Amino acid sequence: METAVNSRTANGVATGGAGNLVLILDYGSQYTHLITRRIRQLSVLSLCISGTSTLDAIAKLKPRVVILSGGPHSVHAAGAPSFPDGFIEYAEEHGVFVLGICYGMQLIVQKLGGVVAVGEKQEYGKMEIAVPEGEWGLYGPEAIGGHQTVWMSHGDEALKLPEGFTVVARSLQGSVAAIENRSRRFYGLQYHPEVTHSTQGMETLQHFLLDVCGVTADWKMQDVLEEEIKVIKGMVAPDEHVICALSGGVDSTVAATLVHKAIGDRLHCVFVDNGLLRYKERERVMSTFQSDLHLPVTCIDASEQFLRKLKGVKDPEMKRKIIGREFICIFDDFAQELEEKLGKRPTFLVQGTLYPDVIESCPPPGSGMTHSHTIKSHHNVGGLPKEMKLKLIEPLKLLFKDEVRKMGSILNVPESFLKRHPFPGPGLAVRVLGDVTEGNALEILRQVDEIFIQSIKEAGLYDSIWQAFAVFLPVQSVGVQGDQRTHSHVVVLRAITSEDGMTADWYYFDHKFLVDVVRKICNNVRGVNRVCQDITSKPPATVEWE
Ligand code: XMP
Repeated sequence: METAVNSRTANGVATGGAGNLVLILDYGSQYTHLITRRIRQLSVLSLCISGTSTLDAIAKLKPRVVILSGGPHSVHAAGAPSFPDGFIEYAEEHGVFVLGICYGMQLIVQKLGGVVAVGEKQEYGKMEIAVPEGEWGLYGPEAIGGHQTVWMSHGDEALKLPEGFTVVARSLQGSVAAIENRSRRFYGLQYHPEVTHSTQGMETLQHFLLDVCGVTADWKMQDVLEEEIKVIKGMVAPDEHVICALSGGVDSTVAATLVHKAIGDRLHCVFVDNGLLRYKERERVMSTFQSDLHLPVTCIDASEQFLRKLKGVKDPEMKRKIIGREFICIFDDFAQELEEKLGKRPTFLVQGTLYPDVIESCPPPGSGMTHSHTIKSHHNVGGLPKEMKLKLIEPLKLLFKDEVRKMGSILNVPESFLKRHPFPGPGLAVRVLGDVTEGNALEILRQVDEIFIQSIKEAGLYDSIWQAFAVFLPVQSVGVQGDQRTHSHVVVLRAITSEDGMTADWYYFDHKFLVDVVRKICNNVRGVNRVCQDITSKPPATVEWE
């Protein structure tokens, strides 16, 4: 049986321990990222590629286990996505274990000669399943003969199993919940084991991967880090130089620290003060870069240049474009100056791209989207200078955010820095509505934001909130302060909880917290006489106001 895995992918990114890859073929389930992460939590490397990838692409990765994900499709629909021709033969020939989840299980049933049909009763949400007595591959000894709660989400069901398959569990309504054919190494779960509502889902996955498939749980962040350093050392020749734009965020900081560990001061970082940073942001991040991480960073104060270009601009997208363009100019100058100083042009650019940005998902048929549509790009501020013809180093390309934090922690990036809330690339430009240069809007916003964030920290709430910030509105309201009537500014406080910024709920502060914050803001920030709180979720609102 050939199960050795390349220890790095085609693009040269290290993937950690070899021989154990769990490859997920994505058919568009909202839980595909979750299952990838859950398996990694078992210290097993899992990667996710499109469910319609070629056999060649699958075989190149030499997986030990292939998981066919769930998805919003019906196997009967025209154009329903599936694995490539020859996949079943490939899996059997190479001793690859195959587990289908939900839609993935139905694919197995249909492709191996069984029958899938629209179920009499559709099953959505929490359900009980029963596992009859027996020696099952899918369930460890504790589950046998037991009942468990699982998370179902399907309309179709398996009516007739392919030859050689056994039903291992049924829902209490009688539909097939789990199947297996141990000799052919094909398994199926009609429910989602990766969702926490499936009470024994993680146990089942662990038992299946480690005990049945013989995967070893040896994927450690320390190994990934060491391997990544080796890869970078091999990629960058001893006389070559690398540049990196630091945003002050976690991803670019961890990426730069890692590259610095590999090639030392042949890394040249730049941090640009665009005049749109938060209160004392420049001093704070530069102190982390220099004193804690010893990164070679040039700090460029370009605030006047940015604000000059933004004068009078009210349209949010225009503001973003101007900021992006200005940044490229500054970055270009920086590279030019380096070339003059070093007598050699830098050849590589470090980017803090993360795995969710590169995963190719399988979009629903009929959506008119191809895989590339699902690759996010607009938030990737680092994705700038194509025309500079720099080769990319993306050392975090296979990691999720929580894994980047773990790596940062190994690299001694201060914990407080790793836990910082996300901050948009265009900075306060999207938090001062309208013209950012009008009056002292930016200064007022900085002070309000600082009071809000410090109060959140003092109340011990910072880590329970995904993102918190203040917004400056370009309107004035009437107030009374002392004996005087005032005509001053309105600011808004926004705090949200979220998993990934794609959807969000507003954060519920207790009454006293809000009373204290509003008092502090009105007493300390000149020019503000009214404070509102944004209690809109996303959707319908977005996180930012612009
Ligand atoms: P929205 O407002 O789109 O925000 O709901 C979702 C997440 O993205 C951040 N965001 C941005 N980040 N450049 C960035 O780098 C941008 O133009 C941008 N717009 C929004 C936002 O702060 C939130 O975390």
